Amino acid sequence: MREDRGKKAALREAALDAMEHAYAPYSNFRVGAALRTSDGTLVTGCNIENSVFGLAICAETLAVASAVSQGLTRFEEIAIATEDVEPTPPCGTCRQVLSEFAPDITVSSYTRDGKEATWPLAELLPNAFVLNPSRGRI
Ligand code: THU
Repeated sequence: MREDRGKKAALREAALDAMEHAYAPYSNFRVGAALRTSDGTLVTGCNIENSVFGLAICAETLAVASAVSQGLTRFEEIAIATEDVEPTPPCGTCRQVLSEFAPDITVSSYTRDGKEATWPLAELLPNAFVLNPSRGRI
């Protein structure tokens, strides 16, 4: 139990640290994300904006992309950090991206001043889109 709390706290700190690297000069909404993979590796992401606004990359999506590019595709938990006063849930696109690899993942979101919210992804994205569901998940 104490070990679980330690793992959760480490993931939260990794998300808060990643937020410091966010590049968000247009929205000024900095986001950090940290994934814990099944082998215990922590993989982070931050949002990266662009002069062409539509090219912004979300923190959670970048964390997933980075993990997958390292051959890590089994995720246990994701932590999100923002500077908002309330914990921010992931956007719809990031929910779908997470769902591809980890439909049963737990999503926790944190504010700088210690507020926390936790949701099962299945609650944030019920009836997620799956290509050819009759064939089962890849
Ligand atoms: N953003 C994320 O990084 N993750 C989300 O789940 C929602 C939005 C970023 C994208 C953009 O850089 C900024 O937050 C404002 O939308």
